[in-house]
Amino acid sequence: MLGKQKGPVMHVNVLTQCIPAPLFEGMWRHPDDQTATGYRSFEYWISIARQLEESCIDALFFADIHGVYDTYHGSIGPSVRHSVQIPAIDPVLVIPAAAAATRHLGFAVTYSTSYHAPYQCARVFSTLDHLTNGRIGWNIVTSDLRLARATGLSADIPHDERYDRADEYLDVVVRLWEDSWEDGAVVLDRESDSFADPARVHRVEHAGRWFTLSAPHQAEPSPQRTPVLYQAGASSRGRSFAARHAEVVFVTLSGFRQGRELVTDLRHRAAAAGRDPSRLKVLQGMCLIVAEDGEQARARAADYLRLSSKGGLIAKWCGWSGVDLAAYAEDTPVSALRAQDLHSVIEFVEQASGKLDPTVGDLRDFVATPQRPHPYTRLMLYGTPEQVADRMVEWIERTGVDGFNLMPCPPTRGMRDMCELLVPELQRRGLLRKQYDAAEPTLRERYFGTGNARYTRS
Ligand SMILES: Cc1cc2nc3c(=O)[nH]c(=O)nc-3n(C[C@H](O)[C@H](O)[C@H](O)COP(=O)(O)O)c2cc1C
Repeated sequence: MLGKQKGPVMHVNVLTQCIPAPLFEGMWRHPDDQTATGYRSFEYWISIARQLEESCIDALFFADIHGVYDTYHGSIGPSVRHSVQIPAIDPVLVIPAAAAATRHLGFAVTYSTSYHAPYQCARVFSTLDHLTNGRIGWNIVTSDLRLARATGLSADIPHDERYDRADEYLDVVVRLWEDSWEDGAVVLDRESDSFADPARVHRVEHAGRWFTLSAPHQAEPSPQRTPVLYQAGASSRGRSFAARHAEVVFVTLSGFRQGRELVTDLRHRAAAAGRDPSRLKVLQGMCLIVAEDGEQARARAADYLRLSSKGGLIAKWCGWSGVDLAAYAEDTPVSALRAQDLHSVIEFVEQASGKLDPTVGDLRDFVATPQRPHPYTRLMLYGTPEQVADRMVEWIERTGVDGFNLMPCPPTRGMRDMCELLVPELQRRGLLRKQYDAAEPTLRERYFGTGNARYTRS
């Protein structure tokens, strides 16, 4: 039974982004939400970090993209107007301030293998690991390169090949973190004017398909050396990549049966890659609307449905899928889009609409309508603290996930509701820690226990 074990039995991350409307298009308009202007201030992120730390949350995770969605109407107009991930500032620069105001909360941040050289990536994460005292994680993404074309950040590389390149990238950065500076290389001997022992600092030599390197790592070893490696690849190639490298995997399981299969598949793949499957934690992404009672929950749901931006939702979907829904007449059958590799979306619309051959108009309505909150709404935790906690337990027991990547709605108010209402309920049931364990000072130890501060390679 969940909750009877010693210590926390559930891992909880909170997802955000340094933008005016993280995750929920249009919710920046909510009177209780401060993200619209707060996202560009230290004060906002420090107050969020302190609040999460008081609730003993594992980590605050910052998603990030480069570029602006310009598919809908072939224009950046809808994204700019509705603030669909624009404007966006760089989360890497926000973390040190939030870390300085906290002592235990972990931080994870997205950093793309397609946009930054491995040498630079290694130094950025060593810096963050030093400045946070071992509380940093890296969400590895290969990025949607359609966006990158316009920014000049990267060449357009096909999906699976991006993962091949990322495999090589990981080999390089992990060697920089783990192999360049031996333990004890920093001697700090004032008498002999020796800061470090050159015999114990090595160049990493690499000549591969994508990268060439012959240099020592520039930063000295940090508490974890390698940041905790997070990943969210959903494709088969993405899962193989996760199984080989990742320690924490974000998933978006659509149901219990499919979920258990996917979690089992991930752990099998990790074992096949020569890793201990218990060194892979799986977190299910869920939106969260929690309120003190049923009436308040209904009021929160009504706000969500009223303030969600239809234009923003369509612009985001078109950006993700690469299909401009404005380019087709309303009555075009969606089957005409099949060629565009959207099979699962189209099948879902067919089922949801109950029509055999739905039109582009149906698809647009579907995309523009937020899911109606209900205790059993897909990918949403909704209701009173008791209802939400019950549902979380059900997800863990039926799929085998290790915890959640929560997206509170609206972001500012939702985080407060989570901390004030849901966290006490989880703690009361013994599902979440009431204080951080001093014997687990690094983020990796929070996931894998005392003494496991270092990354184990496959
Ligand atoms: C919880 C979660 C967070 C993600 N965060 C980002 C992100 O910050 N930046 C990004 O470019 N992609 C992000 N992604 C997308 C994934 O990296 C990945 O590209 C996507 O799940 C599709 O999988 P595939 O690349 O294997 O096809 C995220 C996905 C999930 C589920």
